[in-house]
Amino acid sequence: MTMDWQDYEQQAAQAVTNAKAAPALEDVRVAWLGRKSQLALALREVRDRETGMLLNGIRTRLEAPLGEREQSLAAEELDRRLREEVIDVTLPGEELPLGHLHPITQVRRAVEDAFLGLGYEVRDDREVETVEYNFDKLAFLPTHSARSPRDTFFFDESHVLRTETSPSQIHVLEEKPPPIYMVSIGRVYRRDAITATRYPIFHQFEGLAVDKGITLADLKGTLLHVMRALYGPTRRVRFRTHYFPFTEPSIEPDVSCGICDGAGCRTCKWSGWIEMGGAGMVDPRVLANVGLDPDEWGGFAFGCGLERTAQLRHDIPDIRALWEGDLRVLRQF
Ligand code: PHE
Repeated sequence: MTMDWQDYEQQAAQAVTNAKAAPALEDVRVAWLGRKSQLALALREVRDRETGMLLNGIRTRLEAPLGEREQSLAAEELDRRLREEVIDVTLPGEELPLGHLHPITQVRRAVEDAFLGLGYEVRDDREVETVEYNFDKLAFLPTHSARSPRDTFFFDESHVLRTETSPSQIHVLEEKPPPIYMVSIGRVYRRDAITATRYPIFHQFEGLAVDKGITLADLKGTLLHVMRALYGPTRRVRFRTHYFPFTEPSIEPDVSCGICDGAGCRTCKWSGWIEMGGAGMVDPRVLANVGLDPDEWGGFAFGCGLERTAQLRHDIPDIRALWEGDLRVLRQF
């Protein structure tokens, strides 16, 4: 059978022109120029120079427009993608739901800020304590009720979940010589039933200043500064006498109620004042327990609850709201 090669060339050229996309063009190349195309098969059979030149001529003349068509199709495709798949980076994105810090964390940071501003060191300490650090070195009498497993979580005879952040006082005093100005913030544990006002886990911040010539007035000024940082610039602070094993004298600081400004309301139980925790001058026995001379060094300490602070800041009546993680509640603060 003799082939009409002129017709072959024309049809192939037409097919190249007609190919609308790269894959179709590839099919055309395979069909008309590929290893199994009639042209390739015929080229393999060539015996005479004339036919060889004819067929090679066809091949060369087809390859050129095929290459060009390939390029122009690729360019068209790129154009199309640039046009259609373009991303407008100025369009607003899909909004991700973004949370915020838990009210306890917010208060914790406010406390840290207030004390960093006073030049205090912020520290964190262990929650599992020894009886020695939780009680003995803080001068708790052997008969103190907090030493009972009814009040305190014991692991064994000598290990407890700390009942207060006060053991931090001992740790920092043992770690380095005074002057010391530190605040320790973290969780504490007590065996209380869960109610609206109590939770067996809560947070405290514990301040300690040990230096020469420190007085109760320094303690009062420091607490006033911090209470104003936490609750607002018009707050007043008062002291009531109290007892703690590791301070002498011991006091309980009150802050004027921010809801009624001292006039009396439900939150302050009509007293105009809100209890803030415990404080006092570091007991000489505590200083002696860490090897400091009480005649040379003195200091003050205080401890306050973070939950209480968060509740007062936001007027949250039930402490459980701070532990339940209910977003409907937490979103509000
Ligand atoms: N640790 C005491 C408490 O939890 C508070 C306190 C701290 C009192 C420091 C005096 C000095 O009740």
